[in-house]
Amino acid sequence: MHDPNWLRIESARSLERLLPRVRSALAEAQAQDPAGYARFEARLQREWPRLFDLLLRLYGGQYDFFYQLEQLLLAAGRAWSERRPELRVLDAAREADPTWYQAQQMLGAVLYVDRFATTLAGLQAQLPYLQRLGVTYLHLMPLFLAPAGNNDGGYAVSSYREVHPELGTMAELAELADRLREAKISLVLDFVFNHTSDEHTWAQRARAGDEDYAQFYLLFPDRRLPDQYDQTLREIFPTVRKGSFTWDAGMRRWVWTTFNNFQWDLNYANPAVFRAMGEELLFLANQGVEVFRLDAVAFIWKRMGSDCENQPEAHWIIQAYNALTRIVCPALLFKSEAIVHPDEVVKYLGLEEAQLSYNPLFMALCWEALATREVRLLSQALATRWTIPAGCAWVNYLRVHDDIGWTFDDDDARALGIDPWGHRRFLNAFYVGDHAASFARGVPFQANPATGDARVSGTLASLAGLEQALQAGDADLIDLAVRRILLLFSVMLSSGGIPLLYLGDELATLNDYGYARDPARADDSRWVHRVTFDWARERYGDDQTRPEGHVYQGLLQRIGLRKNHEAFAGGGLDVFATGNPQILGYVRQHNGERIVVLANFSEGTQRLAGNRVRLHGAGYQFRDLISGQTIHAEGEFQLEAYQCMWLEG
Ligand code: GLC
Repeated sequence: MHDPNWLRIESARSLERLLPRVRSALAEAQAQDPAGYARFEARLQREWPRLFDLLLRLYGGQYDFFYQLEQLLLAAGRAWSERRPELRVLDAAREADPTWYQAQQMLGAVLYVDRFATTLAGLQAQLPYLQRLGVTYLHLMPLFLAPAGNNDGGYAVSSYREVHPELGTMAELAELADRLREAKISLVLDFVFNHTSDEHTWAQRARAGDEDYAQFYLLFPDRRLPDQYDQTLREIFPTVRKGSFTWDAGMRRWVWTTFNNFQWDLNYANPAVFRAMGEELLFLANQGVEVFRLDAVAFIWKRMGSDCENQPEAHWIIQAYNALTRIVCPALLFKSEAIVHPDEVVKYLGLEEAQLSYNPLFMALCWEALATREVRLLSQALATRWTIPAGCAWVNYLRVHDDIGWTFDDDDARALGIDPWGHRRFLNAFYVGDHAASFARGVPFQANPATGDARVSGTLASLAGLEQALQAGDADLIDLAVRRILLLFSVMLSSGGIPLLYLGDELATLNDYGYARDPARADDSRWVHRVTFDWARERYGDDQTRPEGHVYQGLLQRIGLRKNHEAFAGGGLDVFATGNPQILGYVRQHNGERIVVLANFSEGTQRLAGNRVRLHGAGYQFRDLISGQTIHAEGEFQLEAYQCMWLEG
């Protein structure tokens, strides 16, 4: 670390030197919007010391450090000059209300454009569907140019500036962003920056022998270094290959490929990579993206002898991008996708890093509680691992496009007398239906016989028992499955942060096993829950005689309640002991409004003493927002199978 005084002087000196270049490059843009330019320069002055410090730590040892700084700053200026007036208006609005995403009105949704509405234009036509649900944050799965056939669901990007031609064009994307913004829906896209596809021009040039571009990736002439790295690396896709490197016959070199063979990891030790990806980031921000999901953040920095995950430099890179976006497009937020140990997940959160983060622990433990009918691990996590830096928010979800991994901490489990290893085995068996008491129909993902590790794929409804119940044609089982789904939704919607719906789940979509017949997908069981949206089923949502209708209407009701109660704003949550291992209890409060949540994770009727709840309320009488019932707290509270109460009082 550098001496703060020295740093202050050096950063000021460097900006003094660079600013005239920026000013002259932006003279025309400044004349068009002098006030806007003044704000840009003020932000630059404010953020520069931080950005300079981070870049110095990352790249200070490079011979052309100052050249790289200058180029980065000029690129930032260009990006600002290209930012449309309406986006500059948004920047000002967000700066005036920086934690707007803490509102209880927030509701996230995620979808594949092709599977939901075929094209971007089709999606625009379906806006009313999203508005009816109350969506305010829309994550579109990767929609960029990508190789034909297997492209990891679009996570192998061949150009960040081209929309996949089957989906539409960049102009249509910008137009969609405008329509969404008018509808008060923020557009969320992936920033897939750990790797590009091997068809990206950078990769192609590297292949063609261009040394500058060879430096964009991590290439090795022989197995010496790959073998050394492999000793400490975790295999992320063990069914794809052994180790993390792929032989490229054309280049006659080994390429670092953390994920699939066609996804080449970028070399962030090279400042040109930082700048090139930074330019792609700003270009996309200028299309109207409001939140970037930072894909695979944990992996972006490599260090020999480590697992090459969660390295300090990975944080500095994100912080540096954060500083860059504060300067150019302050409306933009980051959401980190770190599906790693809970101690590490939380480290990516910060107003100067990622303001938002997926909450994989909460997701996994909701499913854990559903399988065990016990809430102690979930309760412990809410008590000890929920708090995050002020102003930041969890994105709480139950299902996304990925598998479920059991990412809880081993010692947390042991502290409760649970053997972590055996418990993960049980959970995997339970969710792939290999357990006598299981209601779930999941599919194993990336089972690794060498380590015994495995994850689970499946839709929310199939994992919660609806598929099994429908096959059995048993009305009682169907009823239980619907209750489970609504329980999960009720917990997700009341727990704080931004709740995120995986679209299709609102209509209790079941697994689709058709992927197994598609050679490009057969090896990736995640496609079982990436189901093509069946618009013919939309009307089931209004049919209360069907499970889909129960789920849809129940969800809609809870979304409405959430939006109307300020207690659900922000992320503070106080978990309390209910005295019943099957019932989860927590309090949400905000601005003087308070709601007590009780959630029965078992199919049995459960009771808890009224005074446990009374401690958290104002008096003896509560109203359950979900059932509309008034409940007196003198005696016992009784919760039916999988019932969740949102108690006001
Ligand atoms: C993230 C994505 C996942 C993808 C991987 C590689 O984890 O969620 O779907 O396979 O990154 O990009």
